[in-house]
Amino acid sequence: MAGQDTLTVIDNRTGKQYELPIECGAIRTADLRQVKTSPDDAGLIGYDPALTNTATCKSRITFIDGERGILRYRGYAIEELAEKSNYLETAYLIVKGELPDERHLAMWKHNVTLHTMVHENIKKFMDGFRYDAHPMGILVGTIGALSTFYPDANNVQDLESRRLQTRRLIGKLPTLAAFAYRRTLGLPYVYPDNDLSYTENFLSMLFRMTELKYTPNPVLARALEVLFILHADHEQNCSTNALRSVASSQVDPYSAVAAAVAALYGPLHGGANEAVIRMLTQIGSLARIPEFIKKVKAGDGRLMGFGHRVYKNYDPRATIIKKLAYEVFDVTGKNPLIDIALELERIALQDDYFVSRRLYPNVDFYSGIIYQAMSFPVTMFPVLFAIPRTSGWMAQWAESVRDPEQRIARPRQIYIGEGARKYVSIAQRPEPEMREEAVSPEI
Ligand code: ACO
Repeated sequence: MAGQDTLTVIDNRTGKQYELPIECGAIRTADLRQVKTSPDDAGLIGYDPALTNTATCKSRITFIDGERGILRYRGYAIEELAEKSNYLETAYLIVKGELPDERHLAMWKHNVTLHTMVHENIKKFMDGFRYDAHPMGILVGTIGALSTFYPDANNVQDLESRRLQTRRLIGKLPTLAAFAYRRTLGLPYVYPDNDLSYTENFLSMLFRMTELKYTPNPVLARALEVLFILHADHEQNCSTNALRSVASSQVDPYSAVAAAVAALYGPLHGGANEAVIRMLTQIGSLARIPEFIKKVKAGDGRLMGFGHRVYKNYDPRATIIKKLAYEVFDVTGKNPLIDIALELERIALQDDYFVSRRLYPNVDFYSGIIYQAMSFPVTMFPVLFAIPRTSGWMAQWAESVRDPEQRIARPRQIYIGEGARKYVSIAQRPEPEMREEAVSPEI
């Protein structure tokens, strides 16, 4: 048997032996179904809460080696893309699979730029939110609303429709994000300026005041390009998994991307950079770091921006962002929180608690410090993550709807609730005190 790409499983309940094929380092959990104790047994299933060791798709988009801290889009190292590429070129690479030649890049830029405007009704929709609405909540709502403007997006199996929705979403995300930001400040919306690059135009829509033409700082526009490249895709993370799961029902991509943005909103995912700034601000000084670390080790809170499900080494994006911070500070002045972050990192990387759990800085540890230096309010940080991730989501969406092995996502469960019971009429149910113990304490 040695040398064969199979796994031999012996069911000790029955003594039966099964041969399961191994393909690409994986067994198909559906193959476990044949492992039964009797003909009416539904068969063995895999139990994997939070999908920590289950592949849900085959993908050609992003490669991560978390042990060695490697991240590649379509085979290209993140370090090289961050140094030499720009966001729209990287988005093309992610969506189409290859770097564009000059003609295709020009066409792609034109096609995306053509879609930066949003329907005027979107503005009215935005106005309906409360003045203090979180921009991520606004983004979830408005992206979902876009599906009602583009009913043609339901043709998810149509290549031309997929291409059109991809350009639309990549083109419109900065506009929606900037409108959400201006809304929270009570400032008039700024329409896209299609003479500017993707990030320059975004800065213009955010920060233009009375000037006729906004002139973005080239260092800050470039820093944003790099940050956008670093956030463009990250294989099967929480939001991409949400997107794929929702898209598996063949709903339109606006609804699926709205679901992905909702997942990204959470503090354990894209909301982490916001949480990092709150944490650093709360710590407030170098002197209070040891006390904070002590609390984290005692289980009272987490060191936000540290740890990753996949990276058990330094997140390569964090290395690039840490360096980028100083280029931004040359323009904006230093964000004093960087000193607290550096000291936290120094202490944590020597502390057995973090070392033994292989907790290293992730992408969010330094990104918020840059965003804050660039005058973004913390509530905009996850929005700045969602904009570039749209290219990754669209590539993952297109890959999933074209994958003949994919069907509607429908995980199994292990039922641990009550057995069959007879309905009891309301007058005969237990007294309130006894019920308190019986009803679920979870909700
Ligand atoms: N601070 C302190 N302890 C931590 C941290 C942290 N940031 N992260 C994990 N741990 C500890 C856990 O308490 C646990 O310890 P235990 O074994 O003694 O119980 C152990 O390390 C393993 O942690 P898990 O929660 O099982 O790791 P998981 O892979 O499920 O979580 C996650 C990964 C969510 C990123 C986690 O590390 C975390 O909460 N980090 C802080 C939030 C954050 O920075 N999120 C951004 C992630 S990157 C992104 O989404 C773009």
